[in-house]
Amino acid sequence: MTEVKKIAVIAGDGIGPEVVAEAIKVMKRTEELFGLKFEFEHGLFGGIAIDEKGTPLPQETLEICKRADAVLLGAVGGPKWDNNSKELRPETGLLGIRKELGLFSNLRPAVVFDCLKDASTLKPEVLEGTDLIVVRELTGGIYFGEKFRREGAHGEEAVDTCVYNVTEVERIVRQAFEVAQKRRKKLASVDKANVLETSRLWRETVNRIAPDYPDVEVEHVLVDNCAMQLLRRPSSFDVIVTENMFGDILSDEAAMLTGSIGMLSSASLGEGSFGLYEPVHGSAPDIAGQGVANPIATILSVALMYRLTFGYSEAADAIESAVKQVLDAGHRTGDIAADRAQALSTTEMGDLIANALEGAA
Ligand code: NAI
Ligand code: MG
Repeated sequence: MTEVKKIAVIAGDGIGPEVVAEAIKVMKRTEELFGLKFEFEHGLFGGIAIDEKGTPLPQETLEICKRADAVLLGAVGGPKWDNNSKELRPETGLLGIRKELGLFSNLRPAVVFDCLKDASTLKPEVLEGTDLIVVRELTGGIYFGEKFRREGAHGEEAVDTCVYNVTEVERIVRQAFEVAQKRRKKLASVDKANVLETSRLWRETVNRIAPDYPDVEVEHVLVDNCAMQLLRRPSSFDVIVTENMFGDILSDEAAMLTGSIGMLSSASLGEGSFGLYEPVHGSAPDIAGQGVANPIATILSVALMYRLTFGYSEAADAIESAVKQVLDAGHRTGDIAADRAQALSTTEMGDLIANALEGAA
């Protein structure tokens, strides 16, 4: 008997429900093809939860997530809630859910599909073969350090402090090693160890635990050099692990190697195999309700879920190759189409990928 996996589905606002529906369609097709079994439980989240429950993250939604094996999230937000007070903003729900679920890392793959490499601003020959993932620490570092203003000898001073403890560093670095073991077994640890003490602790920690992962090849890269190498030789990276602020910047830089935001998936992980999976993009209010959003980012987030939370690598491979097959055949949604008049709808794209799974299985 296949073990039933519980999926919490929080579709959210705008195009969230539209793209999540296509991801579920793909999951259901993989149940048939690979003998998987999922139980979906839906929860309100974001703006719609504010409207119906008076809070962006209702307790019952949190309970649904906590009893699930993985969470599939669409997107939240929209102009309707932009002027709300902080507690009644959809984004507050996002921060809350990450904290409540103990998610301390954010993973963002940047994969260049050969047939789309002309869409990037970089030369196709530079992008060839790019398939990397940025693992960003999410709960520590300068964004969460003590901040204050004071009067100094030369006028007002502003202070931000960057603190990392060895436990925080070790847990994310171990997670990155494990992700590398499931990929091409190369880990680039990015720091600024020539000037920052937190980076020196980071680097010592990587070196101390590296022997536990003898199959993974490790290199240390200074963050400024990494920013350059991402544009010069992106295909040489497999897994990049780094602290919060460096990861914020490098993951956006890496994302732009690939072209459209409608193609980018992400995972947020904590201890163990539990994870929250979502497209990188937002709720796209400008196209919401029109049925034209690109569902690929959300569908690729399911492939990440299969690989990282469930170890369903065969089904994950099948989803990724079905997406590639559909794109190679020239099918496009509006955001990646050269000719918008020829563009597919969200559901047409979802159907094509779900159908292509059979050939990829
Ligand atoms: P956005 O990512 O929603 O949209 C940016 C642009 O990309 C828009 O022109 C949109 O139409 C397009 N786009 C995004 N996803 C697409 C897709 N799947 N297919 C085709 N085109 C797509 O970012 P924006 O406009 O800055 O934010 C809109 C709302 O989303 C805001 O309320 C923001 O706070 C929220 N947001 C939520 C996130 C989340 O839930 N994790 C992340 C980013 C923004
Ligand atoms: Mg950012």
